[in-house]
Amino acid sequence: MSTAFDHPVYNYKVVRQFAIMTVVWGIVGMSLGVLIAAQLAWPALNFDTPWLSFGRLRPLHTNAVIFAFGGSALFATSYYIVQRTCQTRLFSDTLASFTFWGWNLVIILAVITLPMGLTSTKEYAELEWPIDILIAIVWIAYCVNFIGTIVKRKEPHIYVANWFFAAFMIMIAVLHIGNNIAIPVTAFKSYSVYAGTVDAMVQWWWGHNAVGFFLTAGFLGIMYYFVPKQAERPVYSYRLSIVHFWALISLYVWAGSHHLHYSSLPDWAQTAGMVMSLVLLAPSWGGMINGMMTLSGAWHKLRTDPILRFLVVSLSFYGMSTFEGPMMAIKTVNALSHNTDWTIGHVHSGALGWVAMVSIGAMYHLIPILFGLKAGAMHSVKLINVHFWLATIGTVLYIAAMWVNGIMQGLMWRAVNADGTLTYSFVQSVEASIPGYMVRVVGGALFLTGMFIMAYNVYKTVNHSEKAVTAQA
Ligand code: HEM
Ligand code: HEM
Repeated sequence: MSTAFDHPVYNYKVVRQFAIMTVVWGIVGMSLGVLIAAQLAWPALNFDTPWLSFGRLRPLHTNAVIFAFGGSALFATSYYIVQRTCQTRLFSDTLASFTFWGWNLVIILAVITLPMGLTSTKEYAELEWPIDILIAIVWIAYCVNFIGTIVKRKEPHIYVANWFFAAFMIMIAVLHIGNNIAIPVTAFKSYSVYAGTVDAMVQWWWGHNAVGFFLTAGFLGIMYYFVPKQAERPVYSYRLSIVHFWALISLYVWAGSHHLHYSSLPDWAQTAGMVMSLVLLAPSWGGMINGMMTLSGAWHKLRTDPILRFLVVSLSFYGMSTFEGPMMAIKTVNALSHNTDWTIGHVHSGALGWVAMVSIGAMYHLIPILFGLKAGAMHSVKLINVHFWLATIGTVLYIAAMWVNGIMQGLMWRAVNADGTLTYSFVQSVEASIPGYMVRVVGGALFLTGMFIMAYNVYKTVNHSEKAVTAQA
């Protein structure tokens, strides 16, 4: 059915659907984040109820923020960018609609099964085998639709953002299928075909590349389109963007073993992962600098444009987390950081500072256009600015609290008395962490408040554009 907002050439319907769901799933996933953060500070909030317990809600949080919120942002922006830069409609409207409903069905199944305790126990791949098969089908439909659109393009050049999106899609298909091969024993239980150390290695080959391709390459695609658009400047160096692309995708796949330092994985494989992670700093910073320098001559716009601020601050968090990551991959540093809240701080400087901020900036740019208004015509620019500050302060509180906690935990766990006994019990380190957990609840709540403000702003914008269209008719 066509609506008043339909574009004469492009399929904006699917982009609108995914854009709205980005905000909805953002609120759901981050509310769960605030709840589990509060459970760590006040364990009574587990309510002695299995399906409300931290152990079950934590994977629901990670699935909801990465795949539902981040995934919707990636679907929306990739479908939008590929059409605009290839000057053609999507390869198939039916496949587009199938990916929207299919992906949301996957998420709803996750919302049902994870609190029930149904899990394959692999991190970021917890869903059981029937859902994994559904994911694979939806994902392949997405790849076909995206690459099909590139094939039928009217523009000879393939813009660099599409390269990043294509790499992200193809790699996630390979990794998802490779990591989830399992033998089903019932409708809700399966066992991985891999065992022991091999299982761990395959899991972190997936886990790390889920970071590298889902949480990084796809969002770099967003960055390469929306930063130049919002700054109204061409990309600083197109040549650097190509070097960035090839270097990044060829290095990321070798670094996963840094998640398995000091494990039963052969020592040489751990060291290889460490070295590759250190090398990864170069392309990561190349991309960050390319994005930042795109603002040359447009820095003054930051004073008045909160959308640009979201995009630029996301790049600085990207730079920060891709500096921190290689440092944490050094074995001696990892000996201190592993299993502590330092890792959680690193994760969220990437997840909130980079992934969420760049997505939010892109949505503020996109939503008015998708609903037939001028670019930048959100209902309230002032509220975008309030959102920006809530998100920035929230992220800083979250990650600073986790750095303090992480380093403190690492030092407490390794402290020994002169007679060789441990100075602190584990429980003492948990008690000492509680103030940091409380600060994180405050930071998370600020970030979440910003998302509610965004939802209100989006609602008013859509409402206004609907009225304008009805008045015209
Ligand atoms: C309001 C915002 C958020 C809050 C309060 C929050 C809170 C939390 C908490 C409490 C944990 C568990 C930490 C632990 O086990 O010690 C966690 C884990 C995690 N969160 Fe969030 N989160 C938020 C947003 C996000 C977003 C937007 C993303 C991704 C785009 C994300 C990705 C993750 C990941 C990947 C983990 C697992 C980390 C690991 O296993 O090392 N979070 N989060
Ligand atoms: C050059 C880039 C990066 C490198 C080399 C890197 C390296 C690392 C290292 C060494 C760990 C700790 C592993 C452990 O001790 O268990 C880690 C954890 C993690 N990083 Fe990064 N990181 C990078 C960038 C990022 C970015 C940009 C994000 C998010 C957008 C991110 C998300 C994560 C997540 C989710 C984990 C936790 C995995 C888990 O244990 O569940 N990383 N990273």
